[in-house]
Amino acid sequence: MSFKQAICIRGGKQLEGEITVQGAKNSALPILAAALLCKTQVTLYNCPRLTDCDAAMRILTTLGCNCRREGNCVTINPSVITGTAIPAALMREMRSSVIFSGALIGREKACRLSLPGGCEIGARPIDFHLAAFRKMGTEITDEHGYLDCRTNKLCGAVIRLPLASVGATENIMLAAVLADGVTEIHNAAREPEIVDLARFLTKCGAKISGAGSGLVVIEGVKELYGCDYSIMPDRIAAATYLCCGAITRGEIMLSKADIRSAEPFLSVLEQMGCSVYSFGEDSVYMNARKKLKAPSVIRTAVHPGFPTDAQPVLMALCSAVQGTTIFVETIFENRYRHACELARLGAKINVEGRVAVVEGTERLSGAELMATDLRGGAAMVVAGLFADGTTKIGNAGYIYRGYEDIEAHLKGVGADIKTV
Ligand code: UD1
Repeated sequence: MSFKQAICIRGGKQLEGEITVQGAKNSALPILAAALLCKTQVTLYNCPRLTDCDAAMRILTTLGCNCRREGNCVTINPSVITGTAIPAALMREMRSSVIFSGALIGREKACRLSLPGGCEIGARPIDFHLAAFRKMGTEITDEHGYLDCRTNKLCGAVIRLPLASVGATENIMLAAVLADGVTEIHNAAREPEIVDLARFLTKCGAKISGAGSGLVVIEGVKELYGCDYSIMPDRIAAATYLCCGAITRGEIMLSKADIRSAEPFLSVLEQMGCSVYSFGEDSVYMNARKKLKAPSVIRTAVHPGFPTDAQPVLMALCSAVQGTTIFVETIFENRYRHACELARLGAKINVEGRVAVVEGTERLSGAELMATDLRGGAAMVVAGLFADGTTKIGNAGYIYRGYEDIEAHLKGVGADIKTV
């Protein structure tokens, strides 16, 4: 991840044009991990070129897989696995490396991982993941910063998640597909990326029902075989580009989007006065030429509620729209770090605990900012497109973790943006 790079934007250009939405990062990562469970080659299409996906491929390579990327097509040959340890450096670089533990326990009945470091948006513990693995018959020791997981026989189990955790639901699914017997995940997360993972695993031979509902049932099978699969479109990248268009009062057409998964976000844009039209299942047109008004309350929630990952970019938009918005962040306890940076542009945001009050202003003025995390960095790009003069966003490496070709996409619709 390059923290030396910065994104420079000269704001004030009205954006207009078409953007093709990338494949979903949060779907690609668990599916790359799921490839480990297969005996034969996996080919993934629409796999976004992101530093997080590179890190996932490095983990697969370390574990003995042969991985190749050509553009957005990734092939993985997982026929021989030579290791069961997820490198500590990669656990630090990408917290969601923890998703490989379920796949390793499923396939090799063993996994060694280091404890993921404290993170930018909250504590993000992995206790639900570990409790589920234990319930499935895995012994876990925790010493010197490493977790060693081992089992002779991985068994299906009834698991009730205290919170509908996306990562825990996916990790349990990955372990359960090759376990003996049936696993039930109660209070499972219902995010679209979980449905995508289940579709991939089913195509490889897994038996999964209920993905996308609060109860996922997995019947363990003996073996899985690789397949060709296309990763779903990224709903958060779609939301980000629509915010970029809306804050400049422009018009954007998104192609290769997933309208259904973006619905909770699209309805907020409509409520704000944007004209939003969908065409078929994968194109959406948004026009923000009319006067926009601030939504009164945005409460992040598990799917199909408003996604926490879209909270920062929407906050940037609300900071430049008449009216007051109250944000309530219910998923992560420290997800307003971008607010201080947006304030440098003149945004009026007051944060108290999990609540942020945003008072829209007519003008923001360009300044030097530092990306605080992936989506917080994206929020700074959105605000920079509106601000007078130049906005320079340092630590751009955070942004490249989740946005493929962000500079080219925004240039293509008229933004004055460059990486320095
Ligand atoms: C995933 C997404 C992330 C998104 C989040 C919520 C990926 C790679 N990342 O993250 O972009 O913001 O879902 O939609 O898909 N929790 C525990 N113990 C656990 C697990 C989670 O207390 O063992 C808590 C977390 O601290 C958090 C809440 O549960 O407060 C939800 O987190 P979770 O859904 O697990 O998020 P991730 O899977 O890490």
